[in-house]
Amino acid sequence: MGIWFHKEEQLFQIITPNTEYCIQIADQRYVGHVYYGKRLEDPRCGYLLRTGEQPFTPSVNQREKGMFMDNFPFEYPTYGVGDYRESCLNVRTKKGYRGCELAYEDYRILENKPGLPGLPATFGKGQTLEIRCKDSVIGLAVILRYSIFDDSDAIIRSVSLENESQQPLYVEKVLSACLDMDAEEFELLTLNGSWARERCMERSPLSYGKHGVSSVRGESSHQEHPFLAVMERRGDQDRGQVYAMNFVYSGNFLAQAEKSQFNSLRMVMGIHPEGFEWVLEPGGCFTAPEIVCVYSNQGLGGMSHIFHDLYRNHLIRSPYLHTKRPVLINNWEATYFDFDSDKLLSIAKEAKKSGIEMLVMDDGWFGHRNHDDSSLGDWQVNEEKLKGGLKSLVDNVRAEGLLFGIWFEPEMISPDSKLYNDHPDWAFQLPGREGTLSRAQYVLDLSRQEVVDYAYESVASILRSADISYVKWDMNRQLSDVGSLYLDSTRQGECFHRYVLGVYQLQERLLQEFPDLLLENCSGGGARFDPGMLYYSPQIWCSDDMDPVERLTIQEGTALIYPLGTIGAHVCDCPNHTTGRTTPFATRGHVALAGTFGYELDITRISKEDREQIPGQIQLYHKYQPLIREGDYYRIGSWRETNRYDCWQVVSKDQKEALITYVQVLAEPNYHSRKLYLKGLNPQAEYRLEIEDKDALEKKSAQGKGYAACLLQLDGQVYSGRLLMQGGLLVQRMDGDFQSLLFHLVQNS
Ligand code: DGJ
Repeated sequence: MGIWFHKEEQLFQIITPNTEYCIQIADQRYVGHVYYGKRLEDPRCGYLLRTGEQPFTPSVNQREKGMFMDNFPFEYPTYGVGDYRESCLNVRTKKGYRGCELAYEDYRILENKPGLPGLPATFGKGQTLEIRCKDSVIGLAVILRYSIFDDSDAIIRSVSLENESQQPLYVEKVLSACLDMDAEEFELLTLNGSWARERCMERSPLSYGKHGVSSVRGESSHQEHPFLAVMERRGDQDRGQVYAMNFVYSGNFLAQAEKSQFNSLRMVMGIHPEGFEWVLEPGGCFTAPEIVCVYSNQGLGGMSHIFHDLYRNHLIRSPYLHTKRPVLINNWEATYFDFDSDKLLSIAKEAKKSGIEMLVMDDGWFGHRNHDDSSLGDWQVNEEKLKGGLKSLVDNVRAEGLLFGIWFEPEMISPDSKLYNDHPDWAFQLPGREGTLSRAQYVLDLSRQEVVDYAYESVASILRSADISYVKWDMNRQLSDVGSLYLDSTRQGECFHRYVLGVYQLQERLLQEFPDLLLENCSGGGARFDPGMLYYSPQIWCSDDMDPVERLTIQEGTALIYPLGTIGAHVCDCPNHTTGRTTPFATRGHVALAGTFGYELDITRISKEDREQIPGQIQLYHKYQPLIREGDYYRIGSWRETNRYDCWQVVSKDQKEALITYVQVLAEPNYHSRKLYLKGLNPQAEYRLEIEDKDALEKKSAQGKGYAACLLQLDGQVYSGRLLMQGGLLVQRMDGDFQSLLFHLVQNS
């Protein structure tokens, strides 16, 4: 693997362990996309650009250049000069003219993977190809960047713009990557949703025209996700070609696939151009965030493995990445705003008895915040609630033997706050227009350094004041009225991006000052679950919906791209606060185990029967967390598709161990057992099966439930990997909806 330039063929070859990406300089100036897919290892592939067939190649037939522009597979298409498909770049000159055309200038191959200024970026031992192009009419240089790592099949792309002219240039659009290819029989795969139902997978036909997802909400959003894949129509978890892109960014995005008149397909991704404009001063440089490109010919499962390993090995920096996170209990659904230090201490005491390791104090500990309509920005402890102050509470919790974590929402400002009273100009706003409230709050203008500094000090001074191990960083509204009283009129289009840069700066500073802090990002549930935030926090709150049945779909969509160890998941109380559904405590635990695992309930008030299950669940967490965190994830069955059950599996990298979680969502009448076709095992190896929560099954068996007796018989059985994968594991139908089982396979030595 590596990156090469073949001079004779004018061909760049980027080879990863299993894939290859080829680029050619065509007609001596156009940077064309030749190939992306399984390894070819043949630099004679340049004919795939079809320039030989083209009577319209500009050097041959300048008269028909337009036909060339609208058909050629560009690595980085530009607006305004004859390519009518979606462009990646649109620049306006001082005189107001738009239009840009890039000519190849030169290249370099770096023996490393550079970081990106102020932005999250993948890192590690790798190589990078930089192709430099130029529009000499307007004096704009464009650097296209492609990076690879020795141990990954992902290709990381980004773009930098440099103004080499004497005039400012106005960048109206700068996407980060384009992928032009032939439109085979592809379908589109996206992740869509809303609050409490984030990242649900959706496959749709890819017809002519433009299709995609986007956000102009100032964050990656609950609604759509900065991910897009095209996959073979007959492809599934294990089979078929998939091309995917994921944006390492947490703000507005555009992700689009376009099938054109000539049956070509163009995938693009980058910062959404709506509301965006960046002033590039002479000598100035703008770098667009990274895109992770993945090709898999082993279906969605193959794609997921590439993303998971890339993010674990080359994106998440936290010292907690490869360690067990403390089992936490969060008081949000336990108390909402109605708590004081006595209440928190009573939760901590009870939690300790069950083996819980950290208490997290959620929203409502500062200012006069007894509801969600005040005090954001006033990060002073409410001593009516926390008698004796924060340090005293933290010390008491620590004395109980628990760690302490705290909630913040540093990007926001409540109109009902001292901060707003003192600095109304610190909120984003459109002068003369009444601001749009959402959850009764405005958004701080983080394009302004003094505001970033204030937000930073608010959080940091609290962290300096007590022994705090964990921060939940929340963000509870999407951006609107995005205008800055600080930026001048030419720079209002920079607000959205500067806001995101402000968030990144804040979190970077926090990690520099508090390197041992465990940071969990959150945004009204999972509205900012994206690779950008993972660069700062090893885990992200996945959704406010903790109903285990809803979580099956949400966590399946999230795990399509992100490793299970990043997925914030808690056991909640019932009836569930979002859906009103009642589910077994054991099932809530099994589903939360496929994430960071913790509790969000009033442990002093739940039933004795539920409380007594907590120590056992925590034992399961300690037993399986390393496997869940580090292993390969396989999807066996999806509730979305089966309408009956859900099942996933995690296999250790050495294939010696596996954990299978099975959820029978609905009990079916007159049916006995189901075969689960396992994956990723060593076909030759023998595995001993262990079934978890045997006590519960034994109780059922003693009550005469035949299915429980049958399931118990599986315990201790030895199967070959081949048998379990080809023949399947036989699972009995259980009584009742929402039942779940955990199977552990350990290779016989
Ligand atoms: C939204 C989060 O997702 C919840 O977990 C909780 O922290 C609330 N915000 C608090 O306002």
